[in-house]
Amino acid sequence: MLPSQRDAKSASEYPKSLSNWLELDYFRRPRRLKRVRGLLTWVVLLGSSALIAAITWLPGNRQIYQAASVSTAHALFNEDCQACHDAKFGTAKRLLSGDNAVRSVTDEACLRCHAGDVHHVRQVGKSACVSCHHEHQGLKAMARVQDSHCTSCHADLKSHTDTTKPGDADRPFRDVTTFLGGDRPHPPFFLSENPQDEGTIRFNHQAHMNPDGLLVAGSLERKTLRCTDCHQTDDAGRYMRPINYPIHCRDCHPLNVQVFGSITELAASEEADRFRNEPAAHPNGPREGPETVRAILRDRFIRFALQFPSVHTGRTRSEKSHPLPGRPKPVAAANPGRSAADWAEQQLGEASRLLFEGAGGCRYCHRVSAESSGEADRLPKFELPNINTRWFPHSVFSHERHRSLDCRQCHAQSAESRLTSDVLMPTIQSCQQCHNGKTQGARTDCVECHAYHAPHETRDSPRNLAIQDFLRGQAHPSSAKAHQVAPQLKTPLND
Ligand code: HEC
Ligand code: HEC
Ligand code: HEC
Ligand code: HEC
Ligand code: HEC
Ligand code: HEC
Ligand code: HEC
Ligand code: HEC
Ligand code: HEC
Ligand code: HEC
Repeated sequence: MLPSQRDAKSASEYPKSLSNWLELDYFRRPRRLKRVRGLLTWVVLLGSSALIAAITWLPGNRQIYQAASVSTAHALFNEDCQACHDAKFGTAKRLLSGDNAVRSVTDEACLRCHAGDVHHVRQVGKSACVSCHHEHQGLKAMARVQDSHCTSCHADLKSHTDTTKPGDADRPFRDVTTFLGGDRPHPPFFLSENPQDEGTIRFNHQAHMNPDGLLVAGSLERKTLRCTDCHQTDDAGRYMRPINYPIHCRDCHPLNVQVFGSITELAASEEADRFRNEPAAHPNGPREGPETVRAILRDRFIRFALQFPSVHTGRTRSEKSHPLPGRPKPVAAANPGRSAADWAEQQLGEASRLLFEGAGGCRYCHRVSAESSGEADRLPKFELPNINTRWFPHSVFSHERHRSLDCRQCHAQSAESRLTSDVLMPTIQSCQQCHNGKTQGARTDCVECHAYHAPHETRDSPRNLAIQDFLRGQAHPSSAKAHQVAPQLKTPLND
């Protein structure tokens, strides 16, 4: 304590000794913090260097050098920088030259694990994989490619097309800059003026969409059909499964057959009723045809005749002699009627005439391509259904994503169409109502609806990895060369 503080009285009495009270060398005296400061600086410097070294050289921590983790699909290789970075980072080179094309990831790195086929056999030039596929953007989908990567060619397609290679003759060049409007707007979905549905099954949508319902065969029940009674999406929810006769048509349009002629035996006539209630088979798969239907029916008639000989012998079973046990069997009486085979063949002739020649048989739905001929017992030939399962093979679509909409919002004509040849596909305008480019609209970027690479099946990607090699990011080295094959034409899936 200073004297002045100890004794206030003395301070006021002796003002001239004030300087004695102050400790003027206070700044010279050593302080504890200053003493350790140098040491602290070295500790921090060496410590952080060691930490950086540890992070760099110890496995499992290199992520601090990344702007963000790699995409979800590549998360397995997040630590394994070399899996992709197979070239120098070249930061200085990039900075000095200002060249964005200096890359630390070559196409070869990607091709070790992926098939890299380009887009179209006719395209001129190709970009590096990483120019479209940006990494280190966290969970953002890697395959979300900006439109500029497409319009770099598609805004002026002709000058990016190798016209010496064969192309699609009836596809004129249509330049595209955006999905909406613009001076080079997206082409309509059908390039031909008058598209046709080439299906051959006679079908009338209007008649089947009758709001009062339709009569189900063999009952008084009326059923009002909905679109989804006949059209169900595939497992991926993308496209509609093909129409199937047994599932979608048979209940109302069975292929009726019956046993002709009068039957006296009670059991046989009950069996004949059952026979009538079981319609003839319908071909299943393109390799089956009317012959299959007839062969199955022939078997049924023969089985019937063997089970009830009375229908062809004219004798019922009760008239048959029952052999007594222990006695020799009596010799069978000579057959007064026809053989079972003869009878079945005659029945089959009647049934075939109705099924294959009659207006209520196959011809109710199918077009005939060749009439029957008497010689060699040849049945008529019917055209294959040819129901299209993909309409826009150069784009992708998902019915599931639009499931809350009424089908008719896109397939506007479907409930009024009477002819198979009518095309019921949506127009581009129906899509643009929602895919409208506004902030509250659905997306309009090209990759929302288009793929870039040819479909997987047509490409050659490495499929021979062991799990351990896969985890190490080591695709089979020889496979990189294997996919440098010529790019395949993007083939429509329904070809
Ligand atoms: C799945 C592949 C992949 C993996 C794994 C990967 N990267 Fe990358 N990285 C890329 C791609 C692609 C680019 C963009 C390259 C370009 O545009 O030249 C990139 C860019 C970079 C850049 C920016 C510099 C440049 O060349 O553009 C850095 C820094 C970087 N990566 C660090 C890392 C580190 C560190 C790791 C490991 C922890 C790693 N990356 C793992 C694919 C990968
Ligand atoms: C012009 C831009 C562009 C270029 C260049 C490009 N891609 Fe793609 N890639 C896309 C688009 C768009 C998709 C998403 C649609 C699709 O699947 O085609 C995609 C999807 C992929 C997919 C995921 C789908 C699949 O097929 O498995 C892989 C893998 C892929 N690309 C690898 C590559 C590789 C390897 C290269 C370089 C040889 C490359 N890409 C070059 C645009 C491009
Ligand atoms: C390097 C140039 C180039 C780039 C980049 C390019 N395309 Fe193409 N594209 C072509 C050529 C060439 C054709 C075939 C034109 C012809 O033969 O009529 C084509 C055809 C198409 C077709 C028509 C259907 C088909 O597959 O045959 C679609 C759709 C398409 N491209 C979409 C895209 C999308 C989406 C992108 C961006 C992810 C893209 N293209 C990027 C050159 C390119
Ligand atoms: C009784 C079964 C049935 C019902 C119900 C039905 N369809 Fe179809 N649909 C078919 C058959 C069979 C075809 C193939 C023959 C054809 O193209 O007309 C077809 C074809 C289609 C096609 C593709 C053919 C083209 O030319 O574009 C569309 C789209 C379609 N239907 C939509 C609908 C919609 C929408 C509804 C409801 C309003 C509906 N269908 C109700 C049986 C049905
Ligand atoms: C948002 C518009 C939209 C809605 C809603 C819609 N469709 Fe489609 N539909 C399409 C487009 C686009 C295609 C062409 C797909 C392709 O093959 O590329 C298509 C194709 C079809 C086909 C032909 C087979 C196929 O998948 O290519 C049938 C059949 C069909 N739709 C029936 C229906 C039925 C039934 C509904 C209602 C449950 C429905 N669609 C709802 C747009 C729509
Ligand atoms: C719910 C019962 C029902 C189902 C399911 C059904 N139909 Fe029909 N269909 C009818 C009825 C009833 C008629 C008679 C309608 C009329 O003439 O107005 C008919 C008429 C027809 C006609 C004649 C149409 C005309 O314009 O004269 C054809 C062809 C036909 N159906 C084919 C099919 C095909 C193919 C399927 C399966 C994809 C099918 N139907 C599914 C009840 C059905
Ligand atoms: C009520 C309408 C209808 C009648 C009647 C009908 N079919 Fe079909 N048929 C279809 C439809 C719809 C398909 C396409 C869907 C399928 O394959 O199930 C088809 C498909 C076929 C196929 C191709 C099978 C395939 O999977 O590729 C053949 C062959 C065939 N029918 C022959 C016949 C013969 C023979 C008859 C007479 C005995 C007959 N159909 C009667 C509606 C009919
Ligand atoms: C909302 C969906 C959608 C968007 C977004 C979209 N397209 Fe399309 N595009 C289609 C459909 C559907 C077709 C018809 C495809 C077919 O016939 O197989 C088509 C056809 C095409 C064709 C082929 C025309 C031909 O020759 O058959 C090209 C090229 C094309 N689009 C390029 C683009 C480009 C480039 C973009 C981006 C600027 C784009 N599309 C955006 C749906 C879309
Ligand atoms: C009622 C508004 C609406 C209409 C009309 C509409 N879409 Fe969409 N579409 C959407 C919305 C919303 C999404 C996003 C859904 C999601 O991501 O879950 C979408 C997503 C898509 C996708 C991406 C599907 C996927 O694989 O994830 C495609 C492709 C598409 N639409 C094509 C079309 C085409 C082609 C048409 C016209 C025939 C069309 N849309 C009409 C609202 C619409
Ligand atoms: C060590 C193996 C490996 C390497 C190297 C690699 N990938 Fe992949 N990539 C995968 C696997 C595994 C998947 C997930 C399965 C699939 O989609 O094929 C994937 C998925 C993708 C996808 C689909 C992403 C999505 O969101 O669906 C794209 C695009 C892609 N890779 C592009 C590239 C590009 C570009 C390169 C080069 C920079 C590259 N990959 C290098 C293994 C690899």
